[in-house]
Amino acid sequence: LAVGDGRSLRDSSPLQIFVKAKKKINDIFVEIEDYVRDAVAYVQSLQQERSIVKSDDAVQVEGYIVKVKGIRDVLMRDHMKVAFFGRTSNGKSTVINAMLREKILPSGIGHTTNCFLQVEGSDSGESYLVTEDSTEKQNVKSVGQLAHALCKEKLGESQLVHIYWPKDKCLLLRDDVVFVDSPGIDVSPNLDEWIDRHCLDADVFVLVSNAESTLMLTEKNFFHKVSTRLSKPNIFILNNRWDASASEPEFLDEVRAQHMERAVSFLVKELKVCTQKEANERIFFVSAKEALQARLLEQKGQPAHSGALADGFPNRYFEFQDFERKFEECISKSAVRTKFDQHSQRGKLIVTEIWTIMDGTYDQAQQLRTEKAVAKKEIHDKLNFTEQQLLLLTQEMKDKIRQMVEDVEQRVSKALSE
Ligand code: GTP
Ligand code: MG
Repeated sequence: LAVGDGRSLRDSSPLQIFVKAKKKINDIFVEIEDYVRDAVAYVQSLQQERSIVKSDDAVQVEGYIVKVKGIRDVLMRDHMKVAFFGRTSNGKSTVINAMLREKILPSGIGHTTNCFLQVEGSDSGESYLVTEDSTEKQNVKSVGQLAHALCKEKLGESQLVHIYWPKDKCLLLRDDVVFVDSPGIDVSPNLDEWIDRHCLDADVFVLVSNAESTLMLTEKNFFHKVSTRLSKPNIFILNNRWDASASEPEFLDEVRAQHMERAVSFLVKELKVCTQKEANERIFFVSAKEALQARLLEQKGQPAHSGALADGFPNRYFEFQDFERKFEECISKSAVRTKFDQHSQRGKLIVTEIWTIMDGTYDQAQQLRTEKAVAKKEIHDKLNFTEQQLLLLTQEMKDKIRQMVEDVEQRVSKALSE
């Protein structure tokens, strides 16, 4: 509604599906935690009477505290993860920078990114990096400094460096999107290790391809490997460097159709990860370099198209934004499904199991009560009987004594008369 109102813009973002679902499921787990604590306190208060709560049940109920805490910890860390792959220099780092609206990751000609870089939001407002085998926070102020810090580390190409960037600088980071940049797939022999270490928990993959050439076998093979490990991974294909097409306008439509046909066939027929219709929403022709430049200008309050730009820039910029929208929708829905579905199933199971234990305890208590009542009645009946016996006895005694007295009286009076 209100253009320029950051809040309303943010609320309309498809990422809110994830953000809201995360808040909701967190609230539910706060309630489950309360419920578990109540159950534990109740069970402990009954522990004295061993016959009511079985000790196995008590241990099981207490165990749920740790389980619920575990799930809540995982929930806090749950995010949406997108991983970028493609050949060296296709523009992976530039695409991420354009989406982040800032030059965060080093990019350039040649082989630039030489290990895995994970960009995520930092709550503290500081920007820093942490390498894989250290907990030290290294301050990061600029791309140059980041590149330098990464160089001096002598990192292996499969290693992961976490880059924390202030959440308030980027909506995507604020809404829990985590970006993973990778070295070119054509320079690594360790693709299996990459998949095991960095891909299995990714919600979305973006293949950054070079529109100046075509999809390469190395790129295809990598995604074939990924799709044998994951069922139907969400894959977007960015035909990057599409600004190059401006210099050959006469072939533009033809080249686009050729790339489109190959990319669709790769997703639909080879990988079988989506339908033809879905594939049309997964393939885009963009220029990350232009998109980044436009955004840097916009940040400075200048119009996006004020730089030196090739023909057709508005279309390419629009297509980049269209990609972002479809990407946000896809990652948000997919992450809710894969992450929260599991949590809600486990939450449901915990609650059901506690209910079953409580129900058993209630039955046990009922049974005990009935047994006690029966025992009480038996004692009561016995008492009654004794009482009656006593009554009878006393009556008998009384009669006997009266008879005795009468007898004695008679005998006394007889003796007196004689
Ligand atoms: P590695 O990290 O080496 O694997 O490369 P990368 O895929 O991360 O590529 P990077 O983002 O570093 O970009 C490589 C070079 O291509 C840089 O000089 C970018 O400015 C340039 N570049 C990226 N995207 C585009 C684009 O859409 N059009 C043009 N013309 N150049 C681009
Ligand atoms: Mg790179």
